[in-house]
Amino acid sequence: HVLSNVVSSQDRIHAAYGGVVPELAARRHLETVQGIIDLAISQSGLDFQAIEAVAVTRGPGLLGSLLVGVSAAQGLALRLGVPLLGVSHLEGHVLSPLVEVELSLPFLALLVSGGHSSLYLVRAVGDYVEIAATRDDSAGEAFDKAAKMLGLGFPGGRVIDQLAREGRADAIAFPRARVRAAPMALSFSGLKTALWDHLHNRGGRERLEDIAASFQEAIVDVLVDRCVRAMEQFGVPRLAVAGGVSANSRLRSRMTSEVVGSGGEIVFPPIALCTDNAAMIAAAAQRRLSAGLATDEVRAVSRLPLGRRLASA
Ligand code: KG4
Ligand code: ZN
Repeated sequence: HVLSNVVSSQDRIHAAYGGVVPELAARRHLETVQGIIDLAISQSGLDFQAIEAVAVTRGPGLLGSLLVGVSAAQGLALRLGVPLLGVSHLEGHVLSPLVEVELSLPFLALLVSGGHSSLYLVRAVGDYVEIAATRDDSAGEAFDKAAKMLGLGFPGGRVIDQLAREGRADAIAFPRARVRAAPMALSFSGLKTALWDHLHNRGGRERLEDIAASFQEAIVDVLVDRCVRAMEQFGVPRLAVAGGVSANSRLRSRMTSEVVGSGGEIVFPPIALCTDNAAMIAAAAQRRLSAGLATDEVRAVSRLPLGRRLASA
C-alpha cells in the first residue's frame, strides 16, 4: 500500500538548458532531500519509529544525485537501526505496474524512460533477461529532443502527447528504424535526424499538432512492433509497460488494443508512478524482501544493467 509518494520535480530548473544539468541536479537533491523525507513521513500518517526498513535507488543514474540519496538513506537507516536496501532504478520501473495490479510470471516488460528503452523477460522477481535495447537514444530522449526542436520546452514527452491528440498521425512519414543484424533492437537517433531534416530542409510547414502526432506515431509503431514480436518469440502473452514514456496516451491505447486483441494481458503503472518516484523503489524492495533475495549492495553506481543481455538485443 502506498501511504505517501512525494515527488520534487526539477523540471523548471533544467528547462532553461533543454536537458538535465548533472551538477544542478545534485545540488537541488541536496537542498530538498531532508524536506522531502519529512513530508513523505508526515503525509503517511506514521512516525519515523514505525519504519522497518529503508530502500534507496543505488543506480543507474547521475552519480551526484544518487550519492545524495544513498547518503541520506544511510543516515536514516543508521539512526533508526533498521536495514537499508539498495534498489536498481530499472527494477523499480519494471515492477512499478505491480504496485496496483497482479500479473503472473513470466511476463515481458517494456521500460521506456528518459534514460532507457529496453524490453525484458521477467522470469521472477530478481531474474531478468534484456531481450531488446536501444542502440542510441531512448524513447524519452527522442520525445525531449523533438520538443526542443519544435520549441515546446523540456521535458517534452507530455507536451507532444497533448498536441498529438489534435493532430494527424499520417501527416508525415517518419522512418521506423530497424537494425538489420538485430531485428529486436531499437534505434531512435535516425528519427530525430529525420525531424531536424524535415524542419530545416523540407519546409516543415505542417501544423505543429500534425508533426507531433506523426513523430509520436513513429515511436509508438516501433515499440508496439518489438513487443508483439517478443510475445510471439517467447510465447509469453503478458506485458508490463513502465517508465516515463508509459504515461503516453497513444502508446497506452495502441499497445492495449494490440495485446488485448491477440488475447494477451497488459498492465501499466498509474500515471503518478510512470515518471521517477520513490513508491516504486519501496515496492521493488518489498518484493525482493518477500522473495527472500539478499539485500543489494548499497553503493551508488551510475551504470547498472538489469539482468543479463541477450546477444541479439
Ligand atoms: O522515468 P523517467 O521519469 O526518468 C528516467 O528514468 O529517465 O522518464 C522521463 C521521460 C522524459 O523523457 C519525458 O519526456 C517522458 O518520460 N514522458 C513522456 C510522457 N510523460 C513523460 N513521454 C511521452 N509521453 C508522455 N505523456
Ligand atoms: Zn526512471
